[in-house]
Amino acid sequence: MPRERTRSSFFKLHDYETHAKQNLSKMVFDFVAGGACDEVTLRKNREAFDQIRLNPRILAGQKDISTRTQILGQEIAFPAIISPIAFHGLVHKQGELATARAAQTAATIFVSSIASNYPVEEITAQAPERVWFQINFYKDQELTKKFVKRAETSGCKALVVTVDSATTGRRERDLANSFHLPKSLEMANFKKVGVKRELKPKRGGSALVDFRKEFVKPGPSWRDFEWLRGQTKLPVIVKGIMRPDDAIQAVRLGANAVWISNHGGRQLDTTAPSITVLPKIAEALGGQAEIIFDSGVRRGTDIVKAIALGATCVGIGRPIIWGLAESGERGAARVLQILKDELENAMAILGCDSVGGISRDFVDCD
Ligand SMILES: Cc1cc2nc3c(=O)[nH]c(=O)nc-3n(C[C@H](O)[C@H](O)[C@H](O)COP(=O)(O)O)c2cc1C
Repeated sequence: MPRERTRSSFFKLHDYETHAKQNLSKMVFDFVAGGACDEVTLRKNREAFDQIRLNPRILAGQKDISTRTQILGQEIAFPAIISPIAFHGLVHKQGELATARAAQTAATIFVSSIASNYPVEEITAQAPERVWFQINFYKDQELTKKFVKRAETSGCKALVVTVDSATTGRRERDLANSFHLPKSLEMANFKKVGVKRELKPKRGGSALVDFRKEFVKPGPSWRDFEWLRGQTKLPVIVKGIMRPDDAIQAVRLGANAVWISNHGGRQLDTTAPSITVLPKIAEALGGQAEIIFDSGVRRGTDIVKAIALGATCVGIGRPIIWGLAESGERGAARVLQILKDELENAMAILGCDSVGGISRDFVDCD
């Protein structure tokens, strides 16, 4: 774990990534940074954002810029929430507790992964109104039910079901590094429901792959989703959608929002960059449901582009971990603040003073 220092000289997200690369072990850095196979999608997620052009409007008479908005009825300070990421304890001893506090400070939402190192009850205690819970479908339906109940009783405000990772993508960096958890870290949510497993080192393999094989349902279907929808009154969001037909089906079967994502390029390599599928999914949904978008957001201008193309808000993945690695809660909160500042700056120069005003004509993409 890197030593804690606050770097007020870090003024862009990339600075935090560089710091993480210099300070984290190779196994941990690669686990966070890596993608599937040749990492084509990982790279293209970024390139696709860079290719979209912004169209500023002059003399627009904009007043005070407000980045405030809402997602599923919850107020957030700007249209960015924290995407679910496993094992925050790998980069900071306070792990997800620190991330939840950063979300509270930034007045946004932390989607806590089922694979957190602290139990969800302790995480929600840090930011009672600001935690959502992410789960998968498990082979044992009772296990899924227990997680849903714990999300409800701990006060999570929504349930995110990830549908793109029943099988782990071929993350070759993790295979080469024999990815595992140190003995000091637990799969806390699983332990709480009686599943005690260590993610032990295994030569030439990733311990995560074995864990998934043992517990996660290999071929979930829409029936599983319907079943899950019937288990809870919480809003349910389907994460990992990349096609209009899937988005429509999710909403038809009761999803409260859809989450467009290619998992940050970690699942199936050479899938399209998520930002290129957003416009057609938004068009197909025609406003029937809110859209969360992630994969590759690194700049305030990326947030503008995603909103202009139909997203309600974006999710931030790896940069939160880079911030957490640098100085825990402070670093993660600063990453969010930098993005918010960049967004405000972009809106001011674009000629737009509210999130609702970020319209399609502000972007050009071929
Ligand atoms: C290290 C790491 C672990 C992740 N763990 C999860 C997870 O447990 N559940 C999940 O739904 N997505 C997980 N994701 C995917 C993120 O939620 C998100 O979709 C992705 O990071 C977005 O791309 P970005 O990192 O380019 O912002 C993980 C991503 C990373 C980088």
